[in-house]
Amino acid sequence: GKLQISNIDPDTLNNDEAAVISIKGERKGAYKDEKGQLHIVDTTCTHVGCEVEWNSGDRSWDCPCHGSRFSYTGDVIEGPAEKPLQKHDYKMLDNLTSEDS
Ligand code: FES
Repeated sequence: GKLQISNIDPDTLNNDEAAVISIKGERKGAYKDEKGQLHIVDTTCTHVGCEVEWNSGDRSWDCPCHGSRFSYTGDVIEGPAEKPLQKHDYKMLDNLTSEDS
């Protein structure tokens, strides 16, 4: 399903929960896995730039435009995209303080 952009701190996600957040105007997809580890990726599909959407059933980021699918770590599951989604570590996001906080 399509997640609306939210202002939550991804650290407050429950395990096995995803959110789309905006950091400095860029959309990032955050997913906290069952062990509590955060995985943050850019939601811009590496094919031709549509916005991927969260698929909670498969825990993947799926592109509505041409069907590319990415794991929650950003790796390609299915093309036509060939490159992984850009990955971010949470420490890096910390430095990019969100302007709406
Ligand atoms: Fe995502 Fe083409 S832009 S599959």
